[in-house]
Amino acid sequence: MHIKSAEFLKSAVHPEHYPEESLPEIAFAGRSNVGKSSMINCLLGRRGLVRTSSTPGRTQLLNFFTVNDAFQLVDLPGYGFAKVPLAVKRSWGPMIRTYLEKRRSLRCVVLILDIRRVPSEEDLQFLDWLEEYEIPTIPVVTKADKVTRGRRRDHLKKIAEACALPVEAFTLFSATSREGREEIWGRVAEALNP
Ligand code: GTP
Ligand code: MG
Repeated sequence: MHIKSAEFLKSAVHPEHYPEESLPEIAFAGRSNVGKSSMINCLLGRRGLVRTSSTPGRTQLLNFFTVNDAFQLVDLPGYGFAKVPLAVKRSWGPMIRTYLEKRRSLRCVVLILDIRRVPSEEDLQFLDWLEEYEIPTIPVVTKADKVTRGRRRDHLKKIAEACALPVEAFTLFSATSREGREEIWGRVAEALNP
């Protein structure tokens, strides 16, 4: 994918504040600190476009970006981090479900998992919602650089089993080494132009 332009559009919580549905949209989801924002920056080749942080729970709004004036990316707030205020935690579920349910321009969700972790209850619940709303899903296992090449397949197998998905469904990615970038773009392009 050749990136001619990538711009931050706006942040929103409620549907009335979402940007117009004029362009097809791809959302990025996963637990807090899994590397969603880093992945978007890496895919776009714009290091500082999306704020990343070693403090989990930084992204608490839906952040919309326009790419090539052709489609939109959304950085969804992460789930599962203990230290965010309770009120934020409680509002997360309805905020995400509303987005998944109402957003007609949503073409697919990139669900991001950490190669070192067994998927959490919340990861599995998120997968259930995607199935419930019949949203095409691109499962990606990130931080591949944290595990030696020889061990990756084992980690992937455990994650795939927990998700009840075939190993082949997953794309391996690393924002550090940039591996998997082209494969994700290929899958995103397919979702945008089925
Ligand atoms: P929230 O917005 O808090 O939900 O986090 P996020 O999912 O957007 O994660 P973010 O991209 O901010 O990354 C969290 C931390 O993980 C940062 O310190 C990143 O540098 C690091 N990180 C992200 N991706 C990778 C990766 O592929 N490899 C390695 N080694 N570190 C990564
Ligand atoms: Mg983030």
